[in-house]
Amino acid sequence: MVRRDNEFSFPFPAASRRSFLSLSAAASAAVALRVVTEPMLAHARPHNFPKDGIRIDANENPLGPCASAREAAAAIVAQGGRYSDWLTDDLVKTLAEMEGLKLEQVRVYAGSSEPLHHTVAAFASAQRSYVTADPGYEAGMFTAKAIGAKLVKVPLTKSYAHDVKAMLAAAPDAGVFYVCNPNNPTGTLTSHSDIEYLVENQPKGSVVLVDEAYIHFGDAVSVMDLVKAGKDILLLRTFSKIYGLAGLRCGAVFGRPDLLEKIENYGGWNFMPITAMVAASASLRDTQLVPERRRINATIRGQVFAWLDRNGYSYIPSEANFFMLDTKRPAKPAIDAMAKQNVFIGRIWPAMPTYSRVTIGTGPEMEQFQTAFQKVMTGAVTASVGAIPSWGELGKRKRNFEGGVIRT
Ligand SMILES: Cc1ncc(COP(=O)(O)O)c(C=O)c1O
Repeated sequence: MVRRDNEFSFPFPAASRRSFLSLSAAASAAVALRVVTEPMLAHARPHNFPKDGIRIDANENPLGPCASAREAAAAIVAQGGRYSDWLTDDLVKTLAEMEGLKLEQVRVYAGSSEPLHHTVAAFASAQRSYVTADPGYEAGMFTAKAIGAKLVKVPLTKSYAHDVKAMLAAAPDAGVFYVCNPNNPTGTLTSHSDIEYLVENQPKGSVVLVDEAYIHFGDAVSVMDLVKAGKDILLLRTFSKIYGLAGLRCGAVFGRPDLLEKIENYGGWNFMPITAMVAASASLRDTQLVPERRRINATIRGQVFAWLDRNGYSYIPSEANFFMLDTKRPAKPAIDAMAKQNVFIGRIWPAMPTYSRVTIGTGPEMEQFQTAFQKVMTGAVTASVGAIPSWGELGKRKRNFEGGVIRT
């Protein structure tokens, strides 16, 4: 561990200090925007989880931090009276070494939601569209709307990959192309070559923002090589998913230093929580963590899919720690009927109104999910809360989804 006594030095790393001092008026205004995160989206409808509730609605990792991360976080609490920013430097160094990048190509944040939000704020605008998949992870759409950028939603292909050619065609004025790989909420993959095509053909001045929050769970090929090659790309990773640190808050963004400085203008720089820094570093040092957790998730996911198959239920096969489950009716009453049985499954995307996103929990949790879902599908447990869209409305939404680009 590199230690540096910085008590009397200026308390910001050089690059951050520069951008902190050069915040433009527009950037300062953008700082006030709210960062939208997965738990905010997952828990948009009011419910208090009972203590024994099965929470498979927010793509969290039921395993939590690994043993060495827990020990490191607990051990550092006594030093919580100090900022200790060298712990952040340590994490940046470890990430840079692991990915074969220079230090200045890596920034860490308290979760990847912040750099996602700031990238949209920095590169999209009233003149430059925010282009995303439909269905896709919504967080960046909120930022786009808040800053008055045009939001362009492009349907996934038939195999649920990003339709990169349609994305390019839909927005010659794009500022940001957001590609989530595997995609949230479908858990499906977009090929490296497709993302490369997008990067090579994007309009000048735009960035491709690739979100690899769930990359460790499946076979998606990372585009870190495109970061290394200095392309117009920013890549997000988080410690909230396979590493199980969602509540401790740690994420990272990788990219060319000039791109990173631009997004820093929108968020400034702040000291990171030291518990998260040491837990993240310890997690990276645990070389068994990723393969082991990937295997555990794939095994449970496979068992759930086999059960769904045996019972004739439909879903979208996924490479992540969640999947889209077809309830064969407007999904809201099914979600509520599951909640009645203490099983909290995820939200609905307008493009797929009969589906709910389900997170892979532990084996016993997924058994409870299966029991509850069987009761919902056989009509043994029902619930009907709130307004249910009519079939006419559902048909209209579906046609929009299938029928090409949606401009909002
Ligand atoms: C696709 C995607 N990106 C980014 C995030 C942000 O995660 P965090 O801010 O916890 O790092 C999430 C959280 O669920 C997500 O699903």
